[in-house]
Parts: sequence; structure tokens; C-alpha cells
Amino acid sequence: MDIFEARIQALRKELEQHNYNYYVLSAPTISDFEFDQKMRELQELEQAYPAYDDPDSPTHRVGSDLSKEFAKVVHQYPMLSLGNTYSQAEVRDFYEQVSRALNEPFELVAELKYDGTSISLIYEQGRFVQAVTRGDGVRGDDVTANVKTIRSIPLRLQGADYPARFEIRGEVLLPWAEFDRLNKEREEQEEPLFANPRNAASGTLKQQNPAIVAARKLDAYLYYLLGEQLPAETHWDNLEAARRWGFKIPQVMKLCHTLQDVFDYIAYWDVERKNLPVATDGIVLKVNSLRQQRNLGFTAKSPRWAIAYKFQAERAETRLNAVSFQVGRTGAITPVANLEPVLLAGTIVKRASLHNADIIEGLDLHLGDQVYVEKGGEIIPKIVGVNTEARTAGLGEKVRFIQRCPECGTPLVRPEGEAAHYCPNDVGCAPQIKGRIEHFVTRKAMNINIGPETIEDLYEAGLVRDSADLYTLRVADLLRLERWAEKSAQNLMESLAVSKQVPFERVLYALGIRYVGETVAKRLAGSFHSMEALEQASFESLVAVDEIGERIAQSVRAYFADARNQAIVKRLKEQGLQMSLSEERLANRSDKLKGLTIVISGTFSKHSRDEYKAMIEQHGGKNSGSVSGKTNYILAGDNMGPAKLEKAAKLGVKIIHEEEFLSMLNE
Ligand code: IVH
Repeated sequence: MDIFEARIQALRKELEQHNYNYYVLSAPTISDFEFDQKMRELQELEQAYPAYDDPDSPTHRVGSDLSKEFAKVVHQYPMLSLGNTYSQAEVRDFYEQVSRALNEPFELVAELKYDGTSISLIYEQGRFVQAVTRGDGVRGDDVTANVKTIRSIPLRLQGADYPARFEIRGEVLLPWAEFDRLNKEREEQEEPLFANPRNAASGTLKQQNPAIVAARKLDAYLYYLLGEQLPAETHWDNLEAARRWGFKIPQVMKLCHTLQDVFDYIAYWDVERKNLPVATDGIVLKVNSLRQQRNLGFTAKSPRWAIAYKFQAERAETRLNAVSFQVGRTGAITPVANLEPVLLAGTIVKRASLHNADIIEGLDLHLGDQVYVEKGGEIIPKIVGVNTEARTAGLGEKVRFIQRCPECGTPLVRPEGEAAHYCPNDVGCAPQIKGRIEHFVTRKAMNINIGPETIEDLYEAGLVRDSADLYTLRVADLLRLERWAEKSAQNLMESLAVSKQVPFERVLYALGIRYVGETVAKRLAGSFHSMEALEQASFESLVAVDEIGERIAQSVRAYFADARNQAIVKRLKEQGLQMSLSEERLANRSDKLKGLTIVISGTFSKHSRDEYKAMIEQHGGKNSGSVSGKTNYILAGDNMGPAKLEKAAKLGVKIIHEEEFLSMLNE
């Protein structure tokens, strides 16, 4: 072995240990910065010495860009589901059945039922070789490349007492915090939101591009070991062994000796689960002894030695009064159920989203139906079913998806492969026009002091049809309208004048180009420096920018290719809006913070938070809202939040203060 191979192997071993410390034990022993440096060193060595490549190298966890179709794999042991129970009485029935069938003392292991997507991992000679989804239970998809990006899944096992070949099964999950972050990002990019972390996790695992999977930070909890030569004769001891090999086995399992132990576990977790970082929807009970499991055997669908108990989802029944259809800024149509108000999980629910035409069809909804509304892991309450037995007084009118835009009458279109319908009349459809103007004036865009009602009034009066019209408003025009006085009119004029100093990247964001959210606008402004350059940018030069993909590039090209948009941009230019990065900004740019992610927390004395944010970006750094494994520094002012402080300490993120930060820039 030469020195390079030795160094490569040492780095791999060390990095895997740090992955384990961080992702399984949540107890890192080195900083992210040091970790990244070691990872970079390994990547460089592997590139220089491809002969030493190894599919298990931690560098492969970042996901390559290669996409591929998933191969189908037949499960050696079918992936069965569990019988569900919903009440204490049913749990008691299960307990008594087991007791009768075994006719000897037994123990149950109680675990949480994780609400993600199930996965089977195969290990040979202590190495991870394959990951397969449940599929239809008999055969599933080979998602090995995607699963490799999950850092808590060991690629090589610790110790030596593992069987030569075994399977370990568990649940792939998207933690709540990641789910919220992902949806926020999708909202900004106007992509459809994931309804719950389960859909997000399974959607992510099915991604063809492992690099996207890697960016989403999935986690996996494992709960079932299968194989010919397992280390122990009980489920509990097998999981404990797997924990020693490096797997993330939930800490919250409990050995139950009596039915009362089971009920106590249920009662405790029914409440406590709300504090967990991942979604759970019940508990699972498993007979502990493998010998007893074999005695009990299986039915066609599920084991007789295990059962699930599902927590009561918070659900209510109420009347469907009407369905309305809303048109968004992009023309997307959202069907909304208008309900007889009902109390659900502490809030009064009057409306629920119906998502799209397929959902309405699937529910076979009729007006006046008694519907079930649930608030599970969902963000918005949803209708999960119809009480068809309550249709005694006859059936109301069937709910149909509209064919034409409710606002402008244009026939709707449904792009291929999309669930949503759109109104294509973007120039003539009032809510789309008003929506674009509303977006233009928001705080993060031009920060012009008017609300939706005012925009409505101006639109109705025929004074504005696009954002550029705002700058041609005159005090006299406004005074002719209701509710306008000299003072409020002057205020708007002032606000419009001030907005002409809003920096270029926010002007770009304000245009409302599809998929160009705040972050993308900053990226584009930072690379192209002016509207003119961007108008002329080719597809290739757009995708060459970091984090700009084909979809965004296409959208930018389409926007500037449209003569109507060109006209608006031209008029905005004539009004004196900032159409390029200021000289000062350009002069002060540097790469001093390149590659660093910095979180700002607390209050400051030398500059405002927004100023610090701008400085970070101006010097090539990234400002992020929450502390994570990727955070390099926290720029801390006074009164930093205790949660952030604790997380920083736990992750070993370095905290710096104003002076230190400013001196970093002056070096
Ligand atoms: S054991 C043969 N344990 O629930 C038993 N399953 O309906 C195999 N699940 O497909 C499953 N948490 O995706 C087991 N602690 C847990 C679980 C669990 C979640 C899921 C799993 C399975 C489904 C059963």
C-alpha cells in the first residue's frame, strides 16, 4: 500500500466515524469546517488516484448527478404490513390472542410507528450493498444510490459480530424542520407544496437525481432485523446488537411485561410524540422472542406476532356548504371547500383545501355532504372522506371542477404531468394582474406602502394594469377615489419615490418571474450585474451560474422573450428604478466569505441585521435562517435565542461577535 492509498483509507475511516458521531449519536467531535476540509482532501485524493475508488467511500454520499431508472428487486423476505388497531379494546384483543396461542409467558416490545416510507437495507460482510423500497411488498425499487446520501445509514459496520448477510428494515423520514424548510423553499419557487413529511420522504426517495436527495437531508430509523444467523434470540437484543454495529435504532422502545405497560406507553407517547423531530402516527407492538414469533407465524398479509395501534388523528365531521375556486398570481386554480364552521384540534375550521380535480373526483363529493375533516401531519386541514350514510335527505349536486376561469372566463388548461389547472390568460385575468402587483410591492420586493385593498381600488378605477403603472399615479388621480386624502396620497408618492433606490436584486425579484424567488434573484444579480445583461443572457450562461437549473433558466429566457414584459421593464427603467448593482456594491464585493454559511442571531449595535445580511452576501457568503450541520458561524448579537445557542453548542458551531466579523472582512 502506498502512502496515498493509506491516507485515503485513513480519511475514509475517520470521516465515517464523524458521520456516525454526528448523525447517529448527535454528538460531533469536530467542527463542520474541519469535517469539510477532510472531505475535500479525500475527494481530491480520490480524483487523483482513481484506482483506489471504493463505492463505500463517504464521498459517494453526496450523490452524483447521474440519473437512472430504478431497477426492480424481488424481496428475499416479503415486506408485509401490520394489522391496525384504533382502540384499547382492540389492543387488548391482540394481547389475549397472543396469550392464548402461546399459552406461556411472553414479552412485547413497544416502539413508535414512524410515519415515513419503509426501506429494506441489505448488508453483506459488514458492507451496505442495496436499499429497496417496499413496492408492492413482493418487489420494490432499488434506491441504493439515493439511500447512500442518508448520513445516518452506515456504509460499513462497526464491530465484527454481524451476520455475513442480513437485512435491516426501517423508515426513511424527513424531519419536521427539513419539511418546513423544503416547503418554504418550494413556496418561494412556486412549486406545489408537500402535504406532509411522509409524501415528501417518499417523493424524495423516488427522485432520479441523488444530488437532490442529498440536499434534502433525509433520516432513517431502523426497527427490524432479518436474516439466517441473527446474533440473538429476541427482537430487543437483535436491535441492541444493530445499534452497536452503528445503526440508528430508536431509543424509545420499551419492553412490556403486562398489558398495563402497553397502555402506559401509548398514553405517554400520544402526548409526547408532538415533541419529536419526526412524524409518528401510532405505536407498534412486537412479540419479543423470535421462537414465539415463529410459533405465531403470519397471515397472508401480516405477522400474527405484531400489531400497530394508530393514534387518533384529530378529525371532525361537518357540512360541505360550497366549493369555490381561487386564481393565484400564476393562474393556478385552487379548489377550496367552504365548510360549516367546526372545532378541530383547538381551532375553528371553515375552509379546507381540496388540492385539485383528482382529489375531488376521488372523494365523489356532492354539495351538502357531511364530510370528515382531519388535521394530521398536514399544514392545512383536509377532507378525508364523506359520511355517505348521512345522505338520507337525498344527494346534493355533484362537485365538478370548473372548465373556465371563474374570473375571466378563459378555458382552463392542465399541463401534461401536472395535477393543477391554470388560467392561461395572464394579461387579462384580474387576480393574476393584481397578484403580480401585490407581489411587486411586498416588503422583500419594492417595499411600497400599499395593501391588497388599495391595489384592488386602483385596479377597479382603471389606474393600474401593471407594476409600471404605479409610478405614473398622480395625487390628483388618487384624490378622485374614495378613501383617499391628501396625506395618504402623498405617503404613497413618497413610498414610490423611495422604492426607486431599492437595490437591483430586489427589483429583479419584484418582477415576479416564475421560479425566481429572493435567493435566485440575488444569485442572478450577483452574476449578471445588470438587467440588460440578464435580458441578453443565453440559456447556457444562465445554467452556468451556481444553483441555477434548466427550469429557472428557461423561465428567465421566456420572461424576457415576451414583448409585454420587455415593455414593462423598459418603463420601469425610464422611471429610474435600479437596473444594475451599484458601483459601490460592485467595488466592495469580495470572496472573503466564500463557501461559508453564517446564521445571524440577536440584536446588534454597529449595523442592523439587514446590513449584516447584505455584507455576508456581498462577500460571497451565504446567510441562513437556522442553525444546522452546514452552519460555519453564528454571528451573535445581544439576546441570542436560547434554542439557537443550545443547538450551536451541540453542533459545535463557532460563535462570533460583531467586532470579529467586521475584522474578518477587513483582513
Ligand atoms: S415493523 C413485519 N416497526 O408501518 C413487521 N413497522 O403497516 C414489519 N412502521 O410497512 C414492520 N414504524 O413502514 C414496524 N416501529 C415500526 C414501524 C413500522 C413504522 C411502518 C412500516 C410498515 C408499516 C406497517
